[in-house]
Amino acid sequence: MNDQRHGKKANEVDEVGCVVIGGGTMGAGIAQIILSETSSRVYVVDPDATARDRCRVTIESGLQRRFAKEDDARRLVSAALDRLDLVPGAGDFVAPEIVIEAVPENIDLKTRVLQTAVEHWPQALIATNTSSLSVTELHHRTGASRFVGMHFFNPVPTSRLVEVVCSNDSTAESIEAAQRWVAQLQREAITVKDSPGFATSRLGVAIGLEAMRMVEEGVASANDIDRGMVLGYKFPIGPLELSDRVGLDVRLAIANHLASELGPRFEAPQLLRQMVSDGRVGRKSGAGFYEWENR
Ligand SMILES: NC(=O)c1ccc[n+]([C@@H]2O[C@H](COP(=O)([O-])OP(=O)(O)OC[C@H]3O[C@@H](n4cnc5c(N)ncnc54)[C@H](O)[C@@H]3O)[C@@H](O)[C@H]2O)c1
Repeated sequence: MNDQRHGKKANEVDEVGCVVIGGGTMGAGIAQIILSETSSRVYVVDPDATARDRCRVTIESGLQRRFAKEDDARRLVSAALDRLDLVPGAGDFVAPEIVIEAVPENIDLKTRVLQTAVEHWPQALIATNTSSLSVTELHHRTGASRFVGMHFFNPVPTSRLVEVVCSNDSTAESIEAAQRWVAQLQREAITVKDSPGFATSRLGVAIGLEAMRMVEEGVASANDIDRGMVLGYKFPIGPLELSDRVGLDVRLAIANHLASELGPRFEAPQLLRQMVSDGRVGRKSGAGFYEWENR
């Protein structure tokens, strides 16, 4: 563990630095792709020592997969890991170009974490990976001069898309800087105005909920609805299978959030509520719209 770098003065560091705050599922993936696709040093800030250890292991195995086909895979992995530091708190160890926040989805926690980031690194582009909170509200609470949403997808290492979410006060320079970072990471940005569900969750959930209503009304079976979208509309996976994979409880929570923000068109069908209350929440429970035990 390279925790000893914590405390290093900014003027002793000559590489471009990136800070990722929160080394969980998303933070580890984001740190991994910064290491594999750029030459930046990456500082992952996480107060939980177990999470830091897990993060390093996840990143190392992700880098091994990323470089598996290269002749000098071991050297590439070890060179990337040399640029990784896992630290328990923000410090003056780096003057980062970008700070990406990926702590749990709680507005008060995110506010505290982002305010600390702005105090330490007022010049940096500050990005939040929130999936559902208002980027504009976080921007206002935080008071950052350069602020955007950067909504990465799970699993980060294999997902091509990043939604760049503009708060009502994000400057054009901040939005362009975020788009450039996405391109550097070999990902594709779509640029979205701050609004509930951004672009992808909103449309994805709308299609999923309509597919559930169709099952409820007996229009067709789950399998036939999914096959229709795969064969007819070239979806890589049908909306009901996708809902099972994401988790019906997760889909219900997002639908409830969108219904409260955008109105009754996002109200969850009774079938979805019933399945969640019966514990049939999709793949992780063994059953949902499909049986998953032997699938
Ligand atoms: N998991 C997903 O599929 C997904 C997809 C897109 C966006 N997101 C968003 O990404 C964010 C992170 O989600 P996740 O799934 O990675 O969560 P996670 O629970 O896996 O990881 C969060 C990490 O943050 C750390 N943390 C807690 N308090 C902290 C603090 N004060 N400072 C620094 N680190 C702290 C925790 O120790 C943990 O390691 C959330 O906003 C979530 O909505 C998640």
